[in-house]
Amino acid sequence: MQRPIGVIDSGVGGLTVVSELMRQLPKEEIIYIGDTKRCPYGPRPAFEVAEYTWEMIDYLMSRDIKLLVIACNTASAVVLDDARQALDIPVIGVIHPGAVAALKATENLEVGVIGTEGTISSGAYYEELKSIHNDVKVVSLACPTLVPLVESNRYTGEEAKAVIREALEPMLDYPVDSLILGCTHYPMIEREIQDVVGEDIHVICSGDETARAVSTLLYHEQLLYTGERRPRHLFYTTGAKAMFQSIAESWLKESGLDVRETDLKLPKATRKVKSGMEEF
Ligand code: DGL
Repeated sequence: MQRPIGVIDSGVGGLTVVSELMRQLPKEEIIYIGDTKRCPYGPRPAFEVAEYTWEMIDYLMSRDIKLLVIACNTASAVVLDDARQALDIPVIGVIHPGAVAALKATENLEVGVIGTEGTISSGAYYEELKSIHNDVKVVSLACPTLVPLVESNRYTGEEAKAVIREALEPMLDYPVDSLILGCTHYPMIEREIQDVVGEDIHVICSGDETARAVSTLLYHEQLLYTGERRPRHLFYTTGAKAMFQSIAESWLKESGLDVRETDLKLPKATRKVKSGMEEF
């Protein structure tokens, strides 16, 4: 089926899921929205995260997407259930796939989770992990300094390393053998995180497992695109195009991406009148 997959995030973080989607489903077309202007969502109250996320969802629904990926843990924790009930297309979040990947990796059943304040205080990972495995122990840590580092494109170098080390230090006191990167921005600093926690800890990114879930679902729903057309991905940002483009092209290793700015305002609705369609 030729309709695109919609992917949303508060900013550039969801691109870490997009790169896995592009790798595992190279024929599928993607429309992405990063709400860069209002990022970070992490410190915002749940009602505000819900309001902003629904603006992105409505915008993508007007583009006739066939499946929605909420590639943001903070937004998944708040709106995933409601979106599943309200929309007539399949909706996939990143928390369940992240939990599954961690449970596959852990040997001592002690799992660490790092994420935004919103994700950690929602307890979404704790609940998801416990719902799959009763005996798992979960240690959670909010790392509010990491998303601004990535969004500002200053996530490499010595200064960045110091910020990452400081954020992760409290986690080092616990005997976890797997660490879920419970924020889609964090895979962009996976190497630095691995350096801080050490090579013995499995660092878990949910992108791979999420793309696998999308692939399985499209197959079962008979929604996979099987034609020959090359996909033309489209990326929207509510912030500055140049910064988004630079991060997206470097992360996705592609130049000339079609990046556009949007204010998420929907085109005027149309209503039927006797003479035909009329805008109002
Ligand atoms: N990438 C988002 C997530 O996975 C959060 C970033 C933010 O705080 O806006 O939670």
